[in-house]
Amino acid sequence: MRTIRDLMRMEGRVAVVTGGAGYLGLAFGEALVEQGARVVVVDLDAAACAERADALSKTGVACLGVAIDLADPSSANEIVQRAKERFGRLDIVVHNAALTGASSVSGYAVPFDEQSLEAWNLAIQVNLTPAFRLVQEARPLLEQHGVGSVINVSSIYGVVGPNMNLYGGTAMGNPAAYAATKGALISLTRYLATVLAPRIRVNALVPGGIERAQPVAFSERYVGLTPLARMGREEDFKGALAYLASDASSWVTGQVLAVDGGWTAW
Ligand SMILES: NC(=O)c1ccc[n+]([C@@H]2O[C@H](COP(=O)([O-])OP(=O)(O)OC[C@H]3O[C@@H](n4cnc5c(N)ncnc54)[C@H](O)[C@@H]3O)[C@@H](O)[C@H]2O)c1
Repeated sequence: MRTIRDLMRMEGRVAVVTGGAGYLGLAFGEALVEQGARVVVVDLDAAACAERADALSKTGVACLGVAIDLADPSSANEIVQRAKERFGRLDIVVHNAALTGASSVSGYAVPFDEQSLEAWNLAIQVNLTPAFRLVQEARPLLEQHGVGSVINVSSIYGVVGPNMNLYGGTAMGNPAAYAATKGALISLTRYLATVLAPRIRVNALVPGGIERAQPVAFSERYVGLTPLARMGREEDFKGALAYLASDASSWVTGQVLAVDGGWTAW
């Protein structure tokens, strides 16, 4: 029987992390390189991608930044081709990019009646469609070494509805398109898990709210409704990502792992 240390090793493997230059993208990138995987950092801003890839490469594992707009229909093909050209393989896809509730896109994180169809459609293009298209493009590579693992980053709001009382007196919002796309990622995860088995595993990660200097009134209400009595920190997600990406979870597919301090437990 392999040790836990061996089961978590990902030396030689290659991972794509969308939204890789963001907050959680950093935790995911670190979790992967710390276990030996090379990471393709995909995000909008070229300088941010390069900087993040350089920082991750300092561990001694080569990483690559790919600046691209995931709303562009050709982006999935380009990302997979860039990974293939640079590293010759692709084993792990983490779809983490999203228009989050903190997005400033017009017509998005605003009261329900003001949410626009344009913002709704953009959220589908960024939050949901890449999870479909990236896996379609990457399937042959993901199957090649028999260790293919796909992780879709959903949210507690893909599982339960928002408690709008949390936001009273703040400028924060919780868009319908966020809930719809994050819920759809869970359904897509189950679809892909059965259709792509047994060569590729597909699971969803469900983060709860992360501390980001939100208004105190919001944070206090949020913490009061969280069994583990605090908001999340980026490092809370490293273990779950390393587990789902590696052989430590090699008999796990189609599952939804909440890392939320117990938010969805009641
Ligand atoms: N922060 C939280 O409390 C929380 C809670 C639950 C779920 N999540 C989920 O975790 C994931 C990461 O969130 P985060 O908090 O790190 O936010 P973040 O904004 O730091 O990360 C999202 C990244 O996606 C990138 N992105 C957005 N649109 C893009 C596009 N069109 N093309 C390419 N990249 C694009 C952004 O540039 C950003 O770097 C998201 O899927 C989010 O929904 C976050």
